[in-house]
Amino acid sequence: MSATTERRRRGGPLLLAIALAAIATPAVVSSQGTDETAEPPKYSRKGADTCFQCHDDQAVLAVFRSKHAMPSDPDSPFGHGQLQCESCHGPGGDHAGRVRRGQERPPVVRFGSDSGTPVAEQNAYCVDCHLANTGFAWHGSGHDENTVACADCHTSHSERDPVLAIATQAEVCFDCHQQQRTQSMKPYAHPLRHGKMACSGCHDTHGDTADSLLARQTNNDTCFDCHAEMRGPYLWEHAPAAEDCGNCHDPHGSNYPGMLSMRAPMLCQSCHSQAGHPSLPQDARGLPSGTPSQFLLGQTCMNCHDQVHGSNHPSGSKLMR
Ligand code: HEC
Ligand code: HEC
Ligand code: HEC
Ligand code: HEC
Ligand code: HEC
Ligand code: HEC
Ligand code: HEC
Ligand code: HEC
Ligand code: HEC
Ligand code: HEC
Repeated sequence: MSATTERRRRGGPLLLAIALAAIATPAVVSSQGTDETAEPPKYSRKGADTCFQCHDDQAVLAVFRSKHAMPSDPDSPFGHGQLQCESCHGPGGDHAGRVRRGQERPPVVRFGSDSGTPVAEQNAYCVDCHLANTGFAWHGSGHDENTVACADCHTSHSERDPVLAIATQAEVCFDCHQQQRTQSMKPYAHPLRHGKMACSGCHDTHGDTADSLLARQTNNDTCFDCHAEMRGPYLWEHAPAAEDCGNCHDPHGSNYPGMLSMRAPMLCQSCHSQAGHPSLPQDARGLPSGTPSQFLLGQTCMNCHDQVHGSNHPSGSKLMR
């Protein structure tokens, strides 16, 4: 391994020495030269060592601190017999070769939907090893259909992939989902901005059979994952709660307490006619003081009907206990 000793002599970063030692077995390039007529793409002859000649900065070497650099795992890009850098970047033999002045260096696979490499092509390299993670559901999902690249969410040259950690995931998503960013900053929101919860608490980003990439089949089942106490069954159901929590709550954040999509009297009155309410005489006009706000009591429908999610009390049919 002359490259190793050479690097060490030049006093390269310690990490590089470790990295090189770890991959002391050069890539076995088995797929080369099997089909003479088709001019197969050329892999480099010395795997990562070839690449290090020109790419040895810290940003690139960080890949060796990731889960992808496990020489002991035969499925890892740096496992025995694997193609190392080229497992992901594709055949780099021509790219790594000599290039005449004025001539363009043949590219390797680059990552990200704005990188120039078609998304389907780059994703195929990842899916090749990750069919189990992204197979069936991924294909045809909102992200796949809209040509989002695996690498738009995942960072490979890093010890920690930010999208996998609860505290850092949302930022990755906000890059494209500005509306959810705005909502998450509202006064009442799930604790995403505090890094205590992630979008993946409710969404299965690789796609699912559920609408909106939800983690469960329905909105409510998704919520029950964490709000199990709301599941019921209730003796007296409140129809909208049994149907869809989203009838009253905006899970991405809202300006109203309890993450309600509207303030209480309006919220309730958006379905319940004020006129039909038997307690109507008790609104402001019916008060001794005669305070001229008809919302004085209306604002607090829940003062009386506090079991808005449903009631298990024998006489809770009006959701008051
Ligand atoms: C002889 C030097 C040389 C070698 C060897 C080499 N590269 Fe490159 N590589 C370059 C240069 C120069 C660029 C930037 C200009 C370009 O893309 O043409 C580049 C660009 C890249 C890029 C794109 C960087 C970007 O900013 O998007 C990737 C990825 C890459 N190389 C990977 C590899 C891999 C993997 C190997 C080993 C198989 C390798 N390179 C070997 C010189 C080299
Ligand atoms: C040669 C096979 C191979 C290729 C190609 C590959 N991976 Fe992996 N990947 C692995 C293995 C092996 C692991 C480790 C699995 C484990 O720890 O259970 C892994 C782990 C991961 C993880 C989890 C990392 C963690 O910290 O837990 C992510 C995310 C990932 N890969 C994404 C990608 C993406 C994106 C690409 C394409 C740019 C890609 N992989 C290409 C084999 C591969
Ligand atoms: C929209 C963002 C996004 C895209 C695009 C994406 N992923 Fe992921 N990926 C995630 C998130 C978020 C997780 C963590 C899942 C969790 O915590 O439940 C994850 C987890 C993973 C893991 C770790 C194992 C697992 O399933 O939990 C692998 C491997 C992986 N992704 C591979 C891929 C591959 C391959 C692609 C492209 C086909 C891809 N991802 C596209 C967001 C994404
Ligand atoms: C698991 C797949 C994977 C492996 C293995 C891998 N890369 Fe990358 N590479 C990527 C992805 C994805 C990006 C886009 C940036 C990121 O995610 O960190 C990238 C970006 C790059 C870039 C351009 C961006 C930068 O940070 O300068 C270069 C150069 C590069 N890789 C070289 C290499 C070399 C050299 C190796 C082998 C030592 C290697 N890659 C191994 C997936 C991989
Ligand atoms: C590179 C841009 C990009 C990133 C990063 C990204 N998305 Fe998306 N996402 C899209 C596009 C494009 C769509 C499809 C159009 C739409 O519905 O807005 C989409 C759709 C969705 C949908 C709705 C799907 C549907 O079927 O209605 C959800 C949910 C979603 N993304 C969640 C996430 C989460 C969670 C993350 C972070 C883990 C994330 N996205 C990261 C671009 C992105
Ligand atoms: C508390 C659960 C929850 C969390 C956390 C969550 N979502 Fe959602 N998201 C939902 C539900 C439920 C829907 C479906 C809304 C509907 O059916 O009307 C949805 C829908 C979406 C949609 C589709 C467009 C829309 O608004 O209907 C996108 C995009 C989206 N979410 C992105 C994100 C992103 C990005 C994050 C993280 C920053 C995130 N979500 C966090 C529950 C959640
Ligand atoms: C991954 C877990 C998780 C899921 C799934 C989840 N939540 Fe939450 N929810 C939380 C946490 C954590 C809080 C904050 C509790 C606290 O601050 O004490 C919360 C708080 C709330 C609150 C109270 C906010 C307040 O200001 O009092 C509402 C309302 C709520 N969630 C509705 C929903 C709805 C609707 C869904 C389904 C679309 C849902 N949640 C899914 C974890 C979750
Ligand atoms: C008919 C409207 C309505 C529906 C539908 C609804 N909620 Fe609520 N929810 C409320 C109101 C009103 C509050 C009290 C808000 C406040 O504190 O001011 C509330 C409060 C909450 C809270 C805060 C904790 C608590 O007990 O006060 C959680 C969590 C919650 N709801 C979850 C859910 C879940 C999960 C669903 C779906 C099963 C759901 N809600 C459906 C109206 C509704
Ligand atoms: C999305 C529409 C919707 C919203 C919003 C809504 N409700 Fe309801 N509510 C219903 C439906 C539908 C019923 C069932 C009516 C029936 O069975 O005749 C119901 C039943 C009730 C009942 C029991 C009525 C009876 O005759 O047994 C009460 C009390 C009630 N709602 C109070 C509230 C309060 C308080 C709010 C605001 C926090 C609210 N509702 C918000 C749709 C809604
Ligand atoms: C001061 C207490 C109080 C307040 C505040 C209150 N209600 Fe009621 N509500 C009642 C009582 C008591 C009944 C039951 C009457 C009965 O059993 O005949 C009732 C019954 C209902 C019913 C069932 C109607 C029916 O025809 O049986 C609905 C729906 C309802 N209330 C909605 C609301 C809404 C919406 C608000 C807020 C705008 C609200 N209530 C505020 C005390 C209140």
